[in-house]
Amino acid sequence: MTNTSQKPVAIVTGASSGIGDAVVRLLAAEGYNIVAVARRKERLAKLAEELSGVATVAILAADVSADDSPAKAVALAMDSFGRLDCLVNNAGAGTWAPVHLTDDAMLNSVIDISLKAPFRFCREALGVMKAGSSIINVGSTFGILGGLDGGAYCAVKSGLIGLTQTMAAQYGSQGIRSNLIAPGVIKTDMTKDYWDAPAFKRINQEMTPFDRDGTVEDIANTVLFLASKAGSYINGQTIALDGGWSTTKFLQHDALTCERVGG
Ligand SMILES: NC(=O)c1ccc[n+]([C@@H]2O[C@H](COP(=O)([O-])OP(=O)(O)OC[C@H]3O[C@@H](n4cnc5c(N)ncnc54)[C@H](OP(=O)(O)O)[C@@H]3O)[C@@H](O)[C@H]2O)c1
Repeated sequence: MTNTSQKPVAIVTGASSGIGDAVVRLLAAEGYNIVAVARRKERLAKLAEELSGVATVAILAADVSADDSPAKAVALAMDSFGRLDCLVNNAGAGTWAPVHLTDDAMLNSVIDISLKAPFRFCREALGVMKAGSSIINVGSTFGILGGLDGGAYCAVKSGLIGLTQTMAAQYGSQGIRSNLIAPGVIKTDMTKDYWDAPAFKRINQEMTPFDRDGTVEDIANTVLFLASKAGSYINGQTIALDGGWSTTKFLQHDALTCERVGG
């Protein structure tokens, strides 16, 4: 093991694009050293190089669902920095199908990447985390509310809330906090192909009271807040970052006043 880092240390999964990339950049700017995990090594290497004047980013190019990935990530944090203060379970994929069209291969893949892997990363991280540490799971508003074609994705993101809450109960007394961020739609590789589709706009932008889209920076800012002293009494919470989408029945004027088809 190297000397223990003076800086706090975070493991961020799904660091090669979108939300994970933004989380790494912000945590690095705010004084963290990072273990960045994703499959695309060249993207992680580029990120580490870009941030080299700011923070040390150790990279693990791996599938989060591989049996040995959690142990490798935590070992990399401990070998490189000697401590682990924060785990951000962010890796995931948008996999859409209704329940009756979800085959076992798809179901197993979503469970493996977005529920089993975060569970196993948490288990491994808890073995080395000390009081003051925190775990942040990235769920979805689709884990709070049912959504069309949600199928396995909704089921798994709801499961992540259960995991977060039981960890909050179990480890809160040791000073280790667990919380979940549930983003609404954010423009990333996961959503960019649907972004301009009328149905996507209708259910998302047109049902959001805010007149702007959420951004990867919105999510990263909340990760930083939850990980920091400023968030040190927040435990077991699901925080929806969706401009009010999941807590309102907002409809834009045109939708409120249009004639209902078929009745
Ligand atoms: N964008 C949204 O509207 C939205 C809304 C709600 C929730 N979320 C959640 O936010 C998280 C991040 O998504 P994003 O929007 O930032 O999408 P993204 O840009 O597509 O990023 C997904 C990240 O997950 C990684 N990943 C996927 N499968 C992996 C695997 N098997 N092993 C290791 N890494 C894997 C990808 O890296 P590699 O391909 O390099 O492995 C990538 O870094 C996901 O959990 C997603 O469910 C997103």
